Amino acid sequence: MDFDEVVAARHSVRDFDGQPVPDQVIREIVEEAGQSPSWGDTQPWRVYVATGEAMDEIRAEHEKAIAAGTKSHSDFGTIHRTQWGQQPLTNITDFTTQISHDLGEHSRMSEDNARLFNVGTAIYLTIQKTTTNWNVLDLGAFEQTLALAAKARGYDTIIAYELVRFPHIVRKVMGIPNNEVVAIGMAMGHATDARINSLRAQRMPLDQYLTIRHQPVSHE
Ligand SMILES: Cc1cc2nc3c(=O)[nH]c(=O)nc-3n(C[C@H](O)[C@H](O)[C@H](O)COP(=O)(O)O)c2cc1C
Repeated sequence: MDFDEVVAARHSVRDFDGQPVPDQVIREIVEEAGQSPSWGDTQPWRVYVATGEAMDEIRAEHEKAIAAGTKSHSDFGTIHRTQWGQQPLTNITDFTTQISHDLGEHSRMSEDNARLFNVGTAIYLTIQKTTTNWNVLDLGAFEQTLALAAKARGYDTIIAYELVRFPHIVRKVMGIPNNEVVAIGMAMGHATDARINSLRAQRMPLDQYLTIRHQPVSHE
């Protein structure tokens, strides 16, 4: 696949076949993502990969936490939808409408999330607690490169808040020190043919988010 094909082929998968990704593939894609740019070449990312029994333990604890009604407490804060700007709110509403239109009773979205997508391997990304928003941007670049590197090798992914909504579990199982923020997780493996995986999220029309100016506003 050339670059455009890899970008077009990546999409979020929410039901995996449960098989782990070989360590060698993980090493390759993490090294590739490590080519991402970063503020002052700080390379703020740290990568923790859960597979085998470590993954089983995280999933079991995650399901237990949900059953016990544990409140989500991701290291990166979240805000209530009522505080979101108009455009993100419109987009998530459209996405939710699309899910029920495309999948109906086959949605299983929250069930698939709750069982961590039945994935065999999850990759957790951390940065130091004492950091700036610039390093969060750097981590975003790393995250997307990681997902594309996986797709280029025929692997499916989902970048998911669900994986980090109970960071105490991930910290405990993976031995992540307290001075690191468990920022985001990415599930990786091969998609099943479950209907949920046929979902393709829509995008805004280009001109809704692109501005090109050849003249300053003041000259118009
Ligand atoms: C930071 C981040 C967190 C996300 N968290 C979740 C999640 O917890 N559960 C989920 O089902 N999808 C999650 N997603 C996937 C988005 O819903 C998805 O990327 C978006 O709808 C666009 O679809 P696509 O990835 O298939 O192109 C997350 C995506 C990002 C980038």
